[in-house]
Amino acid sequence: MIILGIETSCDETAAAVVADDKRILSDAVLSQIEDHRPFGGVVPEVAARAHLELVDGLVDRAMKEAGIGFDDLDAVAATAGPGLIGGVLVGVMTAKAIAAVKKLPFIAVNHLEGHALTARLTDNLNFPYLLLLVSGGHCQLLAVEGVGQYRRLGTTIDDALGEAFDKTAKMLGLGFPGGPAVEKAAEDGDGTRFELPRPLKGRDGADFSFSGLKTKVRQTIEALPPGNLKKQDIADLCASFQAAAEDVLADRTTNAMAIFQAAYGKQAAFVVAGGVAANKPIRERLKRLASEKGFQFIAPPANLCTDNAAMIAWAGIERLKLGMTDSLDFKARPRWPLDPDAPLAAGAGGKA
Ligand code: KG4
Ligand code: ZN
Repeated sequence: MIILGIETSCDETAAAVVADDKRILSDAVLSQIEDHRPFGGVVPEVAARAHLELVDGLVDRAMKEAGIGFDDLDAVAATAGPGLIGGVLVGVMTAKAIAAVKKLPFIAVNHLEGHALTARLTDNLNFPYLLLLVSGGHCQLLAVEGVGQYRRLGTTIDDALGEAFDKTAKMLGLGFPGGPAVEKAAEDGDGTRFELPRPLKGRDGADFSFSGLKTKVRQTIEALPPGNLKKQDIADLCASFQAAAEDVLADRTTNAMAIFQAAYGKQAAFVVAGGVAANKPIRERLKRLASEKGFQFIAPPANLCTDNAAMIAWAGIERLKLGMTDSLDFKARPRWPLDPDAPLAAGAGGKA
């Protein structure tokens, strides 16, 4: 079984070909970071236009690198939400067009399901497992019970953590994307110098909140002597921010682990995915926590943790195996929670 996957929901245009024996035959990704850098963040209209310009070439490249023709495909999958709707439409229309012309099944993949199932492509992992998805658009803890079966244990009630990293970097003049820049600056910093809040720490449940932390970073910058921020101030503030982020993730994940083990038993795996999981101190902290709580720790390689199309093709394979295909009438969805029964955390609509 061979599937072409297409991903266009944020600022990466990506196409990949994956086989059901877990071979990634090609994995083409073009980041639009340079297009968005002048704006200090992702601009939806700029993203949609760039996807439109790039998607055909990327599909072409993915097919060539895989060394196959469209007739060799068993289906075409595309991210159909959640995400920036202009971009999502570009990927969905492209996939539908190929499916219609080649008379192939079309599979509408939830972007979050792509992240959630990646660990089954990279590691031999059985359901159920606990997933922390932490990126620029999402921050949630999920019990992954099966294909299409998710139980959300917690989500952010305001910003995603990657977004808070990006804003912090922007306020400190470190550029975009902010996560790697903050991590680098923090290496030389004292994480205890500035007292920053740990929102929701110690509370029941596994929801997140980062807007208060972001605000306090801004107030801290404003309270420093005006004029040029010293390199050490920046390093200390980045380290303090990262320490707060780490503490919050560890606290919320501890609760989610207890909920998970009570529901599914002690033998379990904990998977982290999303761009923020590339952060070394955060990853190490979560790894330690997993081993303390008896969870196997799984972090897919960075290129499959951040947005890519191999994860979409793989989710397509998982779905096709179960006969779960979609009609060409399927409408792209800007919002599409993985667990429709989960109570929507206040203000978290767009981050579902
Ligand atoms: O998963 P991703 O590539 O895209 C989505 O948002 O879906 O994640 C990008 C986010 C950005 O906010 C970026 O600043 C953050 O992940 N990020 C990091 C690091 N690398 C990327 N955050 C903290 N530390 C990093 N090393
Ligand atoms: Zn993503």
